[in-house]
Amino acid sequence: MDIQNLKPTRERDEPIYLQLYRRYCEAIAAGKLKAGDRVPSVRSLASELNLARGTVEAAYQMLVGEGYFVARGAAGTVVSPRLARLAEPAGPRTVPPRAPDANSPQGAPGQALPFQLGLPALDAFPRKTWARLAGHTLRTLAAAAMTYPDPAGHEPLRRSIATYLGISRGIDCAPEQVFVTAGYHGALELVRRVLLRDGDLGWYEDPGYALARRFLLRAGLRLAPVPVDAEGLDVAHGLRRAPDARFAVVTPTHQSPMGMAMSLPRRLELLEWARASRAWIVEDDYDSEFRYHGRPLPALKSLDRHGRVLYTGTFSKVLLPGLRLAYLVVPAAQVARMRELVDLLPGPGSILPQATVADFMEQGHFARHLRKMRALYAERRGWLVDALARELGDRISIQPQAGGIHVLARLAAGHDDRALAAAAQARGLGLKALGDWRVGRSSRGGLLMGFTNFGTPDVATAEVRRLRTIMDATWSA
Ligand SMILES: Cc1ncc(COP(=O)(O)O)c(C=O)c1O
Repeated sequence: MDIQNLKPTRERDEPIYLQLYRRYCEAIAAGKLKAGDRVPSVRSLASELNLARGTVEAAYQMLVGEGYFVARGAAGTVVSPRLARLAEPAGPRTVPPRAPDANSPQGAPGQALPFQLGLPALDAFPRKTWARLAGHTLRTLAAAAMTYPDPAGHEPLRRSIATYLGISRGIDCAPEQVFVTAGYHGALELVRRVLLRDGDLGWYEDPGYALARRFLLRAGLRLAPVPVDAEGLDVAHGLRRAPDARFAVVTPTHQSPMGMAMSLPRRLELLEWARASRAWIVEDDYDSEFRYHGRPLPALKSLDRHGRVLYTGTFSKVLLPGLRLAYLVVPAAQVARMRELVDLLPGPGSILPQATVADFMEQGHFARHLRKMRALYAERRGWLVDALARELGDRISIQPQAGGIHVLARLAAGHDDRALAAAAQARGLGLKALGDWRVGRSSRGGLLMGFTNFGTPDVATAEVRRLRTIMDATWSA
């Protein structure tokens, strides 16, 4: 390279040695100087560029110190041969686009398609109240809250959750037992790392929440599918099929996706199994807040006398999934072990949304919002169920559900739910096939449909008509 290109200019504020240093770095990055190339000696460069020797020496010292140059004594100074790897062509710059995952229960990130599962009513999010509370949070954040946050979660939020669970779910727990997590997966990950070992076998509801099943399998656990019937998880089947299981994952309040509540005898059977075999029960209470008939059942955790239940809840359905806030309630005897791990982890993220959720709960907005959403969802659910009955008649039957934020429409025997759901997804509908949530076989498929974002009865009807057209085409093919 032309030595004169290294010449610093006196007009710039930057010290001359730094300019020289940077010119060398840029020349190496641009490939003008290659690994192993010899560079001029300090003396000759200083004389050539008319610089003080000390200036060139300072730049060379930095370049050697940072590994750009290697000084070889009498053999001179060269660009480090180890930089050869920099010159190798990098791998492809473009990441291949991700194929849409038809099996992802919630659909692709950032989507809100008609019938999409797992979303709250996005038009009913209390933006104004939220903005006011979030602004207040920012203005008044105490100095302590501006330092590194507690990885177990913001203390006021842990307190609000413990109070809420006591009142609404019959769970008697101290704030120290509540660990705020990044979504339900965050809670499962804590349970896995603290209480389970690689390869441990667990009972998993069949059908059951497909995303968490995949997550647990990928994490190295083994899962025995245990069928659910009208009373929820068939504990006797689990005992026969996998007597050595170390854990069970269940949705006792509102089975996902079938919708029944686990009966009291089954709950007691499950708790007794866990006590006797020292197994763990993960209670996933993901949407218990939405019940349209009768009172919500207390959580399974409320009956846990022997500290075997790990209770999880989420803010995804009651506020927004984008908050990525969920929580895990740990039996008192396991708090110290959990704390030990959590202290090594980054925790659930920014303190700001946690503080806003805590204020939202503490000031009574949460209870009001839930009341409002229950009425709204009962109405929107009604629109979808009416439209399905009117437009699809006896092609489907609606599985009775006391609550939740999805409808399960069973198909007449012999119709392939996966093929129908795939055809619907290809045309932009967000519904899912029951078959994709199952491990075992079943003669009757079904469609899982979200209804929370149908803003009017006409919208629900229009989307059901689209589905009918797709059904006609798929079933006559
Ligand atoms: C059965 C079930 N459990 C848990 C969750 C909560 O997941 P997250 O907190 O990660 O949003 C969902 C969300 O759809 C769910 O369907």
